Amino acid sequence: MTNVPQAAPLLAIDDLRVAYHRVAVALHGVTLRVMPQTIVALVGNNGAGKTTALRAISGFIGVDDARVIGGSIRFAGRRIENEPPHANTARGIVLVPERDKVFPNLTVAENLTVAATRRASSAERRRLDELVFALFPALAPLRARLAGLLSGGERQMLAFGSAIVCKPELLLVDELSLGLAPVVVDDLARRVRAIRRELGITVLLVEQNVGVALAIADYGYVIESGHVVLEGPAGELRGRPEIQQFYLGLATGNQVRRYRALRERPANGPGDRRQ
Ligand SMILES: Nc1ncnc2c1ncn2[C@@H]1O[C@H](COP(=O)(O)OP(=O)(O)OP(=O)(O)O)[C@@H](O)[C@H]1O
Ligand SMILES: [Mg+2]
Repeated sequence: MTNVPQAAPLLAIDDLRVAYHRVAVALHGVTLRVMPQTIVALVGNNGAGKTTALRAISGFIGVDDARVIGGSIRFAGRRIENEPPHANTARGIVLVPERDKVFPNLTVAENLTVAATRRASSAERRRLDELVFALFPALAPLRARLAGLLSGGERQMLAFGSAIVCKPELLLVDELSLGLAPVVVDDLARRVRAIRRELGITVLLVEQNVGVALAIADYGYVIESGHVVLEGPAGELRGRPEIQQFYLGLATGNQVRRYRALRERPANGPGDRRQ
C-alpha cells in the first residue's frame, strides 16, 4: 500500500444509463474515468453506444430526445448530466461531432471565427487561429475557401480547428477516421497527440477503427451493446487476444461464437434492461 495521492479524474462517469424516446435504452450502466491530460479511446462496433456517450457528456443528447435516466457524469468534480450543451461548452467541454462538422456555406476563416470562444481575448483568439494553421498547415492556403468545397480530410482538420479555437479543456472527438484514407488518418492521429501536448488538454476519442484508436490513446474502453466489456492501458489492450481476433484481425467461427456468448452474458445483474 502506498500513500501517494492519486490525481482526480477530469471526467468521471458512473453507472450511466441513457434512453432514447424514454424507452430505447442505449447505455446500460457505463463507468469510465478520464484523467487530466490523457487521451482515452472509447471503441466498439456500430450501435454500441459510443456517440450516445459523447452526446451525454456534451449535453447534446436532448437534441435527439434522449435523456440520462441513471448514474452520474462529473466534470472536474461537478455533476453535469442533463445539463444543456451551452453550459458544458462554457465549462470547456467541446465536441467534434460525427457528422455535420463544419458550416459548408462559410469559408475556412469564417468557420473558425464563428466557433471561437467568447471566453478568449481577441489577442488570444488570434493566437488560437495561428495555432490551428500551425497544426494543420494544409488549411492555411484554404482560408478563403468555402468549407463545403473542402476534401474529407481537410474538413476533418477544420472541424478540429473549430474545436481548438473554443479553448477546450476536454475535447470529445467522434470518429476521427470516418471516411478518410489511412495516410490522412495517421497524420491526424499524430496531430491529436500534438494538440494534447501544445494545449495541455484532455481527449476522449470515439472510434470504430480500433487499431487507430489504440495507437493514439493512453487508455481504452471497449463498449458493446451499451456495456463496457473491456478496459485497460492502450498498449495492454492491443495485446489482448479478444482485441487481436475481433477488432484487429480475423477470428474463426468458433472464436466468434465463444466471444458472442461472453458478450451476451448480462453484465449488470437484475434490473439490466438490455435491448
Ligand atoms: N436518435 C435516436 N433515436 C433512437 N435510437 C437511437 C438514436 N440514435 C442512436 N440510437 C440507438 O442507440 C444505440 C447506440 O447508438 P450510437 O449512435 O450511440 O452508437 P455508436 O456506437 O456511435 O455507433 P456507430 O459506430 O455506428 O456510430 C443504437 O442501438 C442506436 O440504434
Ligand atoms: Mg457513432
